[in-house]
Amino acid sequence: MEKTIDTDIMLSVKNVHKRFDDNNVLNGVNLDIRKGEIAVILGPSGSGKTTLLRCINFLEKADTGSICVNHYTVDCQCRKASSIRTLRKKTSMVFQQYNLFRNRTAVQNVMEGMVVVKGMGKKQAQEIAESTLQEVGLLDKKDFFPSQLSGGQQQRVGIARAIVMQPDVILFDEPTSALDPELVGEVLKSISDVAKLGITMVIVTHEIAFAKEVATRAIFMEGGVVVEDGVPEQVINHPKAKRTQEFLRRINH
Ligand SMILES: Nc1ncnc2c1ncn2[C@@H]1O[C@H](COP(=O)(O)OP(=O)(O)OP(=O)(O)O)[C@@H](O)[C@H]1O
Ligand SMILES: [Mg+2]
Repeated sequence: MEKTIDTDIMLSVKNVHKRFDDNNVLNGVNLDIRKGEIAVILGPSGSGKTTLLRCINFLEKADTGSICVNHYTVDCQCRKASSIRTLRKKTSMVFQQYNLFRNRTAVQNVMEGMVVVKGMGKKQAQEIAESTLQEVGLLDKKDFFPSQLSGGQQQRVGIARAIVMQPDVILFDEPTSALDPELVGEVLKSISDVAKLGITMVIVTHEIAFAKEVATRAIFMEGGVVVEDGVPEQVINHPKAKRTQEFLRRINH
């Protein structure tokens, strides 16, 4: 796959700190992700990866720092609901546990954000939802409820739901780690297809082979800071930091 990268910064995380009681989870995270970049975030359990994604879209409020998406900056201490709402609309999140509405069909799940958040008419939303479900290979399952879909299919609905919002950045939090191994491939394939659309993506994952193949950037986090950040070939095959080397050795075994 061609890996061309714009020089324009699409997501900027500056000096983000987050503490839960006496647990300092994020200790000054700085990141600049360029437009069209596919950035994977690697790191051990508890290193703050999910917390970072949640702070980026203000599902969690960081204690200090700022988040900028597509030139719109919000200070993490900002309490203004309209600013937070504006920033939030610029990202979509794909969750580990899919987080679909159980009582809505696949197509209704994909339509929901377009109708409720964007105020789009149902007919148009349905057309977009159906063509996006087709892109992730699920048009024939559009009227199925989540309980009637496999984990991999549910996650592909989750990906379609994220795409239709036309966000500037899609944030994925371990999108395949809840899946049975035989279902991982189909979801990674859908993510690769989205990557080809040129949408900027930040993906927390332990899928090293996928990271090497699809990502343009690999970021290793530990202890709530970015330890190493560079092209996947360098970070994964020739890590400089001792902590990255140890982590990769552990997960390769
Ligand atoms: N809402 C919360 N309240 C208190 N502590 C929290 C909360 N959310 C996360 N933490 C703590 O923050 C730390 C980092 O958690 P986080 O979920 O960000 O790690 P992670 O890197 O995503 O780990 P994993 O790979 O296991 O998903 C953990 O010690 C966790 O217990
Ligand atoms: Mg996590």
